[in-house]
Amino acid sequence: MNQRHFGHLILTVALLATAAHSAGSGQDAPGGSPAQSQEPRVIEVIAKRFAFEPAEIEVTVGEKVTFAVRSADGVHGIEIKKFKVKKEIPRGAEPVMIEFTAKEAGRFPIVCSEYCGDGHDDMKGTLVVKAREAQAP
Ligand code: CUA
Repeated sequence: MNQRHFGHLILTVALLATAAHSAGSGQDAPGGSPAQSQEPRVIEVIAKRFAFEPAEIEVTVGEKVTFAVRSADGVHGIEIKKFKVKKEIPRGAEPVMIEFTAKEAGRFPIVCSEYCGDGHDDMKGTLVVKAREAQAP
């Protein structure tokens, strides 16, 4: 790691700390968890014949997120092989909550893991994981 890279990292961490601090003072955290723990960002995903919405999900390396995945029609599945995510998404309005933290930057395919009809093989999305330093302005 060169000097510039390292400096950038510190700046990013400092910015995140500032953001967390100001957010914590204004909002009441759902669930009333202690102010120290950062609430994971909830990303809503709809699985339907034969696509995921949004088709592209963007997260940052190390960012704690929760995917709230629900089906708009029948049974589907969501699978991200690279990160060993695989869940069945049942029919119904209740979302399946999947806690997730990407460990590596890149673009990774999201596929449907339950057979759901003729277009099953075309039901794909992309997980875009951005490197941390790309986030700083
Ligand atoms: Cu949706 Cu297979």
